Amino acid sequence: MIHLDKRLACMAGMMTAGGRGIDVGTDHGYLAVSLVQQGSAASMIATDINEAPLRSAQSCIRENGLEDKIETVLTDGLQGVDLSGVTDIFIAGMGGILITEILAARLSELQDKNLILQPMTQSPALRAWLLEHGFAICKERCAAVGGKAYSIINARFDGEKRPCDLLYGLIGRSWEDESEDAEIYLQTLLARQQKVLRGLQQAENADPEKLMETRMVIARLQELLLQRDTKEEHHDNC
Ligand SMILES: C[S@@+](CC[C@H](N)C(=O)[O-])C[C@H]1O[C@@H](n2cnc3c(N)ncnc32)[C@H](O)[C@@H]1O
Repeated sequence: MIHLDKRLACMAGMMTAGGRGIDVGTDHGYLAVSLVQQGSAASMIATDINEAPLRSAQSCIRENGLEDKIETVLTDGLQGVDLSGVTDIFIAGMGGILITEILAARLSELQDKNLILQPMTQSPALRAWLLEHGFAICKERCAAVGGKAYSIINARFDGEKRPCDLLYGLIGRSWEDESEDAEIYLQTLLARQQKVLRGLQQAENADPEKLMETRMVIARLQELLLQRDTKEEHHDNC
């Protein structure tokens, strides 16, 4: 059985039971193989833009005897992939903007898909894009691996275009996750914003609006983290 790390296991947990998924940028193929092995997915398509990772996924699929359940495609994003019957689209381990480009190329065909996205960078750009294009972020879960915390975004199209402010772009719904991994994620975001603020304070012509926004985001993040501490203390007392 393939063992998934916490990040991939968290993504696997968002799969539509018994559905057909696509793992875009599959690399080693672990997610696709594990989903079928666990019985969470009936079948999968594993794609990659590069030959070497796709070959590695093909070996993994063969070694696990799943050639009849997992199709592989060498392609850029979702180009040329048949999306009919696909319930779930996984895109992990890429920049947020690249993820938006992959989704934008097949935008009109995503209305009935469960999107499970894990950006390595540029998460605010991805959240803003989703909201601007009528997708609701239904859930976010955080996973910390090797001292780094990632947020996994679960989104679905509902047609309602929503504005995305600075704070929502930064944290999305990750604050709803009560795990320690989410605490690490939020603490990392706070430290980054504090660094941005120090930079702005040292700059000669810092934009006052940007300064105010950054201070507001820091205050809100500190508040959210404090609320979590209070909740924990309350749980401890129970
Ligand atoms: C860092 S790995 C992530 C692998 C796996 N998804 C994970 O999260 O563990 C990124 C993979 O995405 C592939 N990739 C990069 N750009 C891509 C694109 N436009 N379309 C499909 N695959 C892409 C790379 O070749 C690589 O195998």
